[in-house]
Amino acid sequence: MQILDGKAVSLAVKTAVRDEIAKEGIAPCLAVILVGNDPASRVYVNNKKKACAFCGIRSLEFTLPENTAQEELLGLIDDLNRDETVNGILCQLPVPKQISEKEVIARINPKKDVDCFHNENVGRLWTGSFRLKPCTPAGVMALLDHYGIDPDGKHCVVIGRSNIVGKPMAALMLERNATVTVCHSRTRNLKEICLQADIIVSAVGKARFLTADMVPEGAVVLDVGISRLPDGTLCGDADFDKVKEKAAWLTPVPGGCGPMTIAVLMQNTLTAYRIQTGAVGK
Ligand code: GUN
Repeated sequence: MQILDGKAVSLAVKTAVRDEIAKEGIAPCLAVILVGNDPASRVYVNNKKKACAFCGIRSLEFTLPENTAQEELLGLIDDLNRDETVNGILCQLPVPKQISEKEVIARINPKKDVDCFHNENVGRLWTGSFRLKPCTPAGVMALLDHYGIDPDGKHCVVIGRSNIVGKPMAALMLERNATVTVCHSRTRNLKEICLQADIIVSAVGKARFLTADMVPEGAVVLDVGISRLPDGTLCGDADFDKVKEKAAWLTPVPGGCGPMTIAVLMQNTLTAYRIQTGAVGK
């Protein structure tokens, strides 16, 4: 088994972003909004800000209390949409229950939607006319590309159908000519389907959900899940120590898909800057 080293590849991607920004003497800016005090979200937001600092991207953080009214959050998004010095807007999900995720996403100017969550960008994704990429799925593709693993003609089984990972993952795999099966909690015969995969992308969020008996010999396994075990350690969807005996390639957790998500976010912020300054077409 060989490791798909997301930490190393993400560093290469971020370094390329940093070098472009430095060469051109530009200063893209990302605004990150965090509502409430979910500890996992806090960690993600901190990691995003760190990556911005590394790349030479200005980052603004807006931390709002758990009981923030939806109108207040939408008002902040309106301000950031209008602010020409802000190129990317990201509201960390999940948001507290009084706030509609859909309305938040719909309010962000699609040109500043560095998550690629807005319906306009999702439409562009599925018709192949997108510039901003869905961060986690595009991070998975960048990892495969780095190691020369071509999905063309392969059977890719995606486990999970979320708007953040499963669905856009299927779109990107189709774009690259994979045959895609999307499985989810209601799928029957999940194990049998997985055993027909060349590539498995697991985005379930249950520790050790993907067991070795579900993985065909020689498969490529991308583990997008991240869970915390009772002792506090981070754990992916894959039962790593056993799956590694079957898989040809496997991502570790942490240090696999997570860092790649953030690297693509940095690329998207630069792309958003270019879209807004007219350096590239919409
Ligand atoms: N919550 C979990 N993943 C993500 C992500 O990629 N973007 C945002 N905005 N929130 C998330």
